[in-house]
Amino acid sequence: MIDHDVVIVGGGLAGCRAALEICRLAPDLTIALIAKTHPIRSHSVAAQGGIAATLKNVDDQDSWESHAFDTVKGSDFLADQDAVAILTQEAPDVVIDLEHLGVLFSRLEDGRIAQRPFGGHSHNRTCYAADKTGHAILHELYCNLLKYGVNFYEEWYVLRLILEDQQAKGVVLYHIETGEIAVIRARAVMFATGGYGRVFNTTSNDFASTGDGLAMTALAGLPLEDMEFVQFHPTGLYPAGVLISEAVRGEGAYLVNAVGNRFMVNYAPSRMELAPRDIVSRAITTEIRQGRGIHLDGSGGGPFVHLDLRHMGREKIMSRVPFCWEEAHRLAGVDAVVEPIPVRPTGHYSMGGIPVTTSGQVRLNQDQVVTGFFAAGETACVSVHGANRLGSNSLLECVVYGRRTGAAIAQDVRQRKFPQINYSRYVQEAQEQIQQLLDQPGTLRIAELRNQVQDCMTDHCGVFRTAELLTEGVNQLESLQQQYGNIRLDDHSKVWNSELIEALELRSLLVVATVILSSALNRQESRGAHYREDYPQRDDQRFLQHTFASYSPTGMDIRYVPVTINLFEPEERRY
Ligand code: FUM
Repeated sequence: MIDHDVVIVGGGLAGCRAALEICRLAPDLTIALIAKTHPIRSHSVAAQGGIAATLKNVDDQDSWESHAFDTVKGSDFLADQDAVAILTQEAPDVVIDLEHLGVLFSRLEDGRIAQRPFGGHSHNRTCYAADKTGHAILHELYCNLLKYGVNFYEEWYVLRLILEDQQAKGVVLYHIETGEIAVIRARAVMFATGGYGRVFNTTSNDFASTGDGLAMTALAGLPLEDMEFVQFHPTGLYPAGVLISEAVRGEGAYLVNAVGNRFMVNYAPSRMELAPRDIVSRAITTEIRQGRGIHLDGSGGGPFVHLDLRHMGREKIMSRVPFCWEEAHRLAGVDAVVEPIPVRPTGHYSMGGIPVTTSGQVRLNQDQVVTGFFAAGETACVSVHGANRLGSNSLLECVVYGRRTGAAIAQDVRQRKFPQINYSRYVQEAQEQIQQLLDQPGTLRIAELRNQVQDCMTDHCGVFRTAELLTEGVNQLESLQQQYGNIRLDDHSKVWNSELIEALELRSLLVVATVILSSALNRQESRGAHYREDYPQRDDQRFLQHTFASYSPTGMDIRYVPVTINLFEPEERRY
């Protein structure tokens, strides 16, 4: 058994920022940072457009109160406003701290950090590094952690959270390179495992975004919060689904339908292409559904709309959004300087997640927390995004709440000794779990089952939902769950068995999908990204509440928990 004071699972922005804070505040603590990929391959590197903060470099009328209001309104009033106040008040400080760490932000003429417009934000407050902001930040954080001597467990897959008597005691993990099973005992465990975009067949997320931390938390008997709120990014490149950043619209690009109209005028006339993502994604989907989408040959009735950058000119395109140009060129054969880019909504982000306090401590229910268990970033729900996140608030959340969670852990571990763990029991159970997967005499290929799960979620739990669709989805998923026991692995080796990892990830997808569908079926209203055609209105009377959904293979238990409203009274959301 290995001992570390703190175990952080996940090598993205939230995990790295938390680790940095612990190093700064408590250099005597030993930290294990576990990641199933190399940390700088975490999905945070794919975040493109920027990080919001009221630096006032471009717009001196901006304020944290305005940032907070935009965030709460964007969330369709489901965000917890105490958490939003912290997010927006601490934003300038965390961005300046990143700059001091060495992050290469894009600059204004006078050398200060540049800031661009972004969807749903009423001021130009999004700081950026061209359209590679996540990449710039994560690399700098990682280099700093190397300097502090953090123990990296790269390419280890965490199989299980050790949770006994509502106390997190460590994790069981599997070394992808060698097949070794290990147990790490810790005084605090933090999950920063990112999202679950791979639960859909079209997503901006990388192959590793399979919701493992969420699934492990649910399988340990803890609730997940607001999982019905899935963000579909309006401009996924057609057909690949990869992200064409909102920064492109921030820099002036238009959305155009088959008849050449900038259709956003009909959906959000005051914000046009820079309306919040839930509204733009519904607008694009409606245009496509009503026959004003475009085919690859340019004719109408097709599956995408156009993102038109041509009026921006080559120089601006290549300096502000060069990566998006490159993606469109490489993956769709489109030169965006002279041709419009084909786009449609793509699964992008999870507003819900593991419920946490504003110190990152995992919540068991409305009043209690889980001892020694923390989470931050996309995998957590604090909740600053409520029913719909504004672009450029996710990197901010990772950094603000990563830092806060690190600080809370640095203090919390002092109160506790290393817990007692039955090491051999956990190793044996893990060995059996792996062996059973390797040996099971199934007939189904992993990819076959995974495709069916992804199609099921895309068809039944997309931008528009109804009770009929969701119920069909729940039933279909139940039968897919049963087929998990029928998958067959051809690779029985211990060394770099990627098929085994895919089988484990598929288990995560099945658990997460079940929680999303059940939470969505229960919420009989439309709010933010959760749009029910059979309940098209927001219903504050019944549903101005957070969903807490507990998973069990025999059924879901769904409860509701109050929203913190201490700054802005809910109002009708118009743009
Ligand atoms: O469009 C984007 O660049 C994505 C940013 C975000 O999700 O915050």
